[in-house]
Amino acid sequence: MKAIVLAGGFATRLRPLTLTKPKPLLPILNRPLLDWTLEALKRSGVEEVYLAVRYLSDMIRRRYGDGSALGVSITYEEEVRPLGDAGPIRVIAEKHGFDDTFLVVYGDVFTDMDVARLVEFHRSKGAEATMSLVEVEDPSRYGVAVLDEDGRVVGFVEKPRRGEAPSRLVNAGVYVFEPGVVKHIPRGPSKIARELLPRLVEQGVLYGYVHRGMWSDIGVPKDYMRANMEALRRYYPRGYIDEDAEVSGDAEIVHPVFVARGASVGPGAKLGPFAIVGEGARVGPSVRISNSIVFGGATIECCSVVSGGIVGERCYIGRWVRLEPGTVLGDEVVINDEVFLARNVVVLPFKEVESSVYEEGRVIL
Ligand code: GDD
Ligand code: MG
Repeated sequence: MKAIVLAGGFATRLRPLTLTKPKPLLPILNRPLLDWTLEALKRSGVEEVYLAVRYLSDMIRRRYGDGSALGVSITYEEEVRPLGDAGPIRVIAEKHGFDDTFLVVYGDVFTDMDVARLVEFHRSKGAEATMSLVEVEDPSRYGVAVLDEDGRVVGFVEKPRRGEAPSRLVNAGVYVFEPGVVKHIPRGPSKIARELLPRLVEQGVLYGYVHRGMWSDIGVPKDYMRANMEALRRYYPRGYIDEDAEVSGDAEIVHPVFVARGASVGPGAKLGPFAIVGEGARVGPSVRISNSIVFGGATIECCSVVSGGIVGERCYIGRWVRLEPGTVLGDEVVINDEVFLARNVVVLPFKEVESSVYEEGRVIL
């Protein structure tokens, strides 16, 4: 089976992390989200993947090439101008002569959905199109669907106002389409949720498959963090320390904690609960990290505290630094000794932060 993965968005809400990486390459437990997606697709019988790319597409090509390392064949479709999430589907399906059932997957969704079961559901209904759904607390940030007792989608509202959602079942961003769906997508830029789904609902040919399990759209830092923590809880409830990591016997580990290969943790450090330390990162003596993600290659020197923050790739954090919850450091940021960053401070990539105190919510450019 063929699958289109939409991976071209600008991901503005995930800046500064996405100033230097496209959203699908952000790590979940030290591996790009797209690795997880491609592996899940392969497991469910997908052999050919079409990646609709645009923003920072070179980085995606460099990592995946023709896909052989992951056992799928990858074809890239590069947009000259943004075509939205629907536009590329028409371009790809026509150019490559899609003539059978195919999948469309958002590149910013992290889930343990069983895609083979979704396809089975689609076939059992004889549907023209099937969307996957998950139940969430606050549906207002998503597309919200209403199902009839047969599983047909009888109503769909994209991002309703708070309190006005007709259900809590939201669009999970994995679709199964018959080739006939393509003609309903206008040529040029368009959106699945604004244009395509309402048309399919009107014609009564759209079904909804409810996934119960892990799911997040990593669109904003909080959800990106949550996706990592859920993955940790789900896949390593008792934590994971790579055999090629060097963790001092004098460090205190409060699981679940994830320490990737090549990372080191010094004596007296306290990790966890919920700390993810990326490949080759160096955590100095007496450092404390909890509810945080430290990307690969970062260094945190003695006695610094990171609680509830994200530290970008190859950042350098000096001694006695304190990062409060919600702090996000872009890649390659340097924080000098004794700096205090209050809640929700954001630092752009490559920035050096001098010794001083930064108040809540400040953006350091
Ligand atoms: N190639 C390409 N070109 N991809 C794009 C473009 C584009 O112009 N615009 C967006 N995408 C990709 C994004 O990279 C992302 O993987 C996917 O399409 C969805 O776009 P988002 O911008 O992340 O949409 P959203 O999260 O606000 O809302 C959509 O997803 C929700 C679930 O995650 C909606 O369709 C909602 O209905 C849905 O609930
Ligand atoms: Mg999204």
